[in-house]
Amino acid sequence: MIRSRLGLADPESDADSDAQLLHRVIEILSAGRDLDGIAQGVADLITETTSTDVCFVHLLDPAGDRLRLRGATAPFDQLARRIELPVGEGVSGWVAAHGAPVVITDNKRADPRYRYIPELRGEEFISMASVPMITRPGDLVGVLNVHTRERREFTEADVELLGSVAGLMAGAIENASLHSRLAEREEARERFAERIVLLQETERRRLAGEIHDGISQRIVSLSFHLSAAADAVVSDPAGAAEQIARAQELAAGALEETRHAIAGLRPPVLDDLGLAASLESLARSVPLPNVRVDTVTTSLPEHAETAVYRIAQEALQNVMKHAGAAHVQLRLSVAAGAVLLEISDDGVGFDPATTTRRAGPVGHGLPGMRQRAELLGGQLTTDSTPGRGTVVRLRVPLTQER
Ligand SMILES: Nc1ncnc2c1ncn2[C@@H]1O[C@H](COP(=O)(O)OP(=O)(O)OP(=O)(O)O)[C@@H](O)[C@H]1O
Ligand SMILES: [Mg+2]
Repeated sequence: MIRSRLGLADPESDADSDAQLLHRVIEILSAGRDLDGIAQGVADLITETTSTDVCFVHLLDPAGDRLRLRGATAPFDQLARRIELPVGEGVSGWVAAHGAPVVITDNKRADPRYRYIPELRGEEFISMASVPMITRPGDLVGVLNVHTRERREFTEADVELLGSVAGLMAGAIENASLHSRLAEREEARERFAERIVLLQETERRRLAGEIHDGISQRIVSLSFHLSAAADAVVSDPAGAAEQIARAQELAAGALEETRHAIAGLRPPVLDDLGLAASLESLARSVPLPNVRVDTVTTSLPEHAETAVYRIAQEALQNVMKHAGAAHVQLRLSVAAGAVLLEISDDGVGFDPATTTRRAGPVGHGLPGMRQRAELLGGQLTTDSTPGRGTVVRLRVPLTQER
């Protein structure tokens, strides 16, 4: 309809071309493309079938406060993902904020909503129509714009048709983004399962090593000394007593090693003192003059307490190793159905972007902390700026949604 209305005034072909446009839009949308593929495909199709000169498809960012160009007619397609606009700014921003279309027939610059973006070369185009892309439940997913080099009257029906295309796209875009989020989650789940297996393996190897090298060695010698004692008990009671004393030492040593191996699994201090006091004693062991500790009693299950303790341990170790801080603070609190742990320092800080590579080393430092947090259904965030200190925050939900 847009084409005929604007170019060939033939009402007979209006319905045909409308149907054709919608049909081709549906084709693009059902081809199972990703977001960028859909945005680009629709931009090309709209310019082609509506006799407009350029079409821009701006999608709303997940945070919902910015529009980003994702598809456009050539040569502007090169700018995909490179142009951004806050919701509320410019014509597209206005359309996004109000959920209503805008038509400007000429003299865009006189419109207070218009904002000139040099890369989009607005000076080459006279008329424009901009429609919101809104899903059936009423969620805004973006804005669709068409521009023409020649002056053109966009009629109500033109805008309506553009709106229909935009509506179809909105649904498909929402599906595509749900799909990609699902795929991401699935991938994260797989990576996660892999890491758990690796962590378990590492833990098993550590335990096996400690049992083999420490505990069983001592038991072997212990049994050797006991045999010697048994042989000597009649003929050389003094020698036998000496052997038994050696055996006792070894038994004590084996016990110590066993405790040590178990402590690697769950810090014994947790059983003795509980989480809050354990964290206090941990923080006090940091060799810095200004350590503040602020804790409350929490009711986390044992495995969660262990994880929180280990995370605090690693965060404090990082402060000691890297921060060069004058002050450290550890806080354990409860808020909104969750336990919060916060470790902050005023040290050198770092750029988190350089340490958040997706496939970090397993079981080490920050990646290990994150994995433990994920295991609990919680989140770990690091907030750091070079020169401005670091805050590590852990949130563990108290509900059973784990
Ligand atoms: N509190 C902090 N202050 C300054 N830099 C930090 C702090 N915590 C972490 N970092 C930086 O982040 C990097 C990654 O920390 P992470 O704990 O993952 O590894 P690591 O401490 O270097 O090694 P590992 O923990 O495996 O022994 C550190 O090398 C350091 O550069
Ligand atoms: Mg570390």
